[in-house]
Amino acid sequence: MTKILIINGPNLNMLGKRETSIYGDTNLDDIISEAVEYGSGMDMDVEAFQSNGEGEIIDAIHESGGTYGGVIINAGAYTHTSYAIRDAIAAVEIPFIEVHLSNIHSREEFRRSSVMAPVCAGQISGFGKNSYLLGIKALAGILSIG
Ligand code: DQA
Repeated sequence: MTKILIINGPNLNMLGKRETSIYGDTNLDDIISEAVEYGSGMDMDVEAFQSNGEGEIIDAIHESGGTYGGVIINAGAYTHTSYAIRDAIAAVEIPFIEVHLSNIHSREEFRRSSVMAPVCAGQISGFGKNSYLLGIKALAGILSIG
């Protein structure tokens, strides 16, 4: 089984309670459970990490290199601002897929750019919790598994 990590950044621990008209009413634990089940059907062992702190996310990215086949990352608002997270992704060899629940390109101007998109294999945005499942499918394709 290939190990895959899902990293969720700031405020995503509030899913299910936070701006539900934008992010839906499913909480993060349920999104992750669904992702674990979906991944296991494709021979992937999905693990998850969430932090509201930039440094902890960077540490998780650094540590992912030796352990996981690839990473799905929703960096929350750090997507738009964090050159440090962007550089951490660039520093590890494994593929990263950027995901967002909402369509960041149809929202406020500041959300329409992602500083990490150029160092990710691709971006999935706007499909609610299914963005995570599509991210797993994309990683399976890149890693030729499932
Ligand atoms: C988000 C979009 C970001 O702009 C926002 O700051 C989030 C969630 C999404 O999943 O749609 O926290 O990454």
